Amino acid sequence: MTMKILVTDDVSPKGVELLKSQGFEVDVTPNLSEEEFIKVIPPYDAFIMRSLTKVTAAGMDAGKKLKALGRAGAGVDHIDIKAATERGIVVCNTPDSNTMAATEHTCAMLLATTRHIPQAHNSLMSGEWNRKKYTGVQLQNKTLGIIGVGRIGSRVAKRMQAFEMRTIGYDPYISKERARQLGVELVDLDTLLKESDFITLHTPLTQETRGMIGPNEFAKMKEGVRVVNVARGPVLDVEALAENIKSGHVADAAVDVFPNEPVTLDNNPFLGLDRIIITPHMGANTEEAQLAVSIDAAQGVIDALNGQPVATA
Ligand code: MLT
Repeated sequence: MTMKILVTDDVSPKGVELLKSQGFEVDVTPNLSEEEFIKVIPPYDAFIMRSLTKVTAAGMDAGKKLKALGRAGAGVDHIDIKAATERGIVVCNTPDSNTMAATEHTCAMLLATTRHIPQAHNSLMSGEWNRKKYTGVQLQNKTLGIIGVGRIGSRVAKRMQAFEMRTIGYDPYISKERARQLGVELVDLDTLLKESDFITLHTPLTQETRGMIGPNEFAKMKEGVRVVNVARGPVLDVEALAENIKSGHVADAAVDVFPNEPVTLDNNPFLGLDRIIITPHMGANTEEAQLAVSIDAAQGVIDALNGQPVATA
C-alpha cells in the first residue's frame, strides 16, 4: 500500500517532488493548529514541518501510523523528542542545511542595527533627510561576544573578524584549542557580558539556555551594548531587553526570534521602540537554505520509512 506523507509548513516544493518521485502520496496542508493536526494526521505514515508546527505527545498519539517526522530545519525544541522516541517515531532534522543562511542573517542584522538602516530608510521614505539622527558606530576594534560557538556562532566569528572585530566566545562545549583555531577567545559568561560591545546569541533552546539572558545578565553588560538574537526566542528575556532599550543601557538590538511565534500586534514586546530591528524568524530563509532543508528533510523521511539509517543531530 502507498505510504502517505503530510507536509504541515511552507517548505520548498522540491522536497515534495522528491517524495512523490519515490512513490509516496503527499498532501501539503500548512498552518494547522494542534487541533486540526490531530484531526488530519491519522492516515499518515510521516510528516514534514518547520518551526510553526508544535509536535506534542497528543499529536503523535493521534498519528497511530506515524513512523517518521522530517524537520526542515535545525532546531527540535518544538518537538517532544522523548514522546517521539517512546512511540518509535524517527525524528530527522537538517542540522547543517541552513547554517549559512542563519549566519548571514546574523551579520546582516548586526550591521543593520549598528547603522540604523531600516530606521533611516523609513525616515527617508517619509520625506525626512536626517543624517545626524542615524549616526552609528564602527565595528573595527570593537568586541563581539558570541554565546554559543557552534556551527553558526563560529561562522559569524569568521565573518565579523573580517571587520576587524575582536571575537570572544562563551561555550561550555568547545575546547580552548578549537576556539583558538577559530580566532575566538574563550571566556566565561560574566566576562563576555562585561567586555562585549556587541553580543550575539547562537545557542539551541534547551533547559540550560531557556531564559539564559535575563535582567541579571543585562545588568552586567556594558553601557551602550548592542544585542542580536537570531537563535531562539526564549533564550533571551524580551521584557528585560525592552526595558534595557528604553533605559538606554542597550543602545540597539536586533531580534529575529520570539518566545511566542508568530508575533502579531497583540504579542509584540517591542512595539513603539525605535532602537530595535525585528524580523519574522527568517534566519533560515534563503532560497538555497529552503531548498536544502526541504530536500534533506524529505530524504531523511524516505530513509526512515525505508528502514535506512538517518542523519540527525
Ligand atoms: C532552524 O531551527 O533551523 C531555524 O530556526 C529555521 C526554522 O525554524 O525553520
